[in-house]
Amino acid sequence: MITKRFSRNVALILLASSLFASIPFVVSAGISRGSPDQAGQRIPIEEFLKKIPDAAAQWAEDRKRDLRDRPEAILELLGLEPGMRVGEAGTGAGYFTFFLSAIVGERGVVYANDNDAYMLAALEHYAKGSFGGLKNIVPVLGADEDPLFPRHDLDMIVLYGSFHDFTRRAEWLRNAKRYLKSGGRLAIIDGYYPDHGALTKEAVIELGSQAGYRLAFYKDCSSEYDLGEGGKGFRSNHVHILVRD
Ligand SMILES: C[S@@+](CC[C@H](N)C(=O)[O-])C[C@H]1O[C@@H](n2cnc3c(N)ncnc32)[C@H](O)[C@@H]1O
Repeated sequence: MITKRFSRNVALILLASSLFASIPFVVSAGISRGSPDQAGQRIPIEEFLKKIPDAAAQWAEDRKRDLRDRPEAILELLGLEPGMRVGEAGTGAGYFTFFLSAIVGERGVVYANDNDAYMLAALEHYAKGSFGGLKNIVPVLGADEDPLFPRHDLDMIVLYGSFHDFTRRAEWLRNAKRYLKSGGRLAIIDGYYPDHGALTKEAVIELGSQAGYRLAFYKDCSSEYDLGEGGKGFRSNHVHILVRD
């Protein structure tokens, strides 16, 4: 049942994206964190928004990213339902956020957190330009050590491809627990790469247990993907679902 509903929601997003090129479904692949100008200073957000890829270009990039990331296979493991309250952390410009938004639907809400105001500005910009508005997405500017979600009854907190960038992981996990309802779950979905801050299953279990979570589910969703002309790439992606002790 969940699978059918999930598949329908994701299929609808992708169908809408492919049918309506004028309102493409965009995400963050072309945007890097921070936006220094030549002198290393950050430019005004309005300037930044003029420099990022336009919606159509971003849409094309993100559909390529889908082939590598296979978000539908990941989302299906999360057990999300319409009406749920989800906090996403390290949301960037919204690659995963728009999927989450579609699944929880109009009765649900996605609090989209990042510690970088530029990323949240890009998220809002793309949501308005290509997703029909923010809808049920609420941007939340967090601190390095605390997502600062505005409520304490979240069903799930999701980190998609972001936790490896967090500099204060242990503290962040302890603080994040306060925003989950009793029995709430926290999903860390990330690649294991040497330059990804030594993120491994063992590290997630250790950090989680220190912060008062236990690992309830784990799956290696890594896969090869086609680079064209016979070439193959490898996408490392691991799903860890932690529950509050
Ligand atoms: C590699 S990007 C991934 C963005 C997005 N999830 C995606 O897959 O496209 C990592 C994001 O995490 C954010 N980030 C890093 N440390 C953070 C923290 N402590 N709290 C919230 N966001 C953070 C960065 O600003 C960046 O937008």
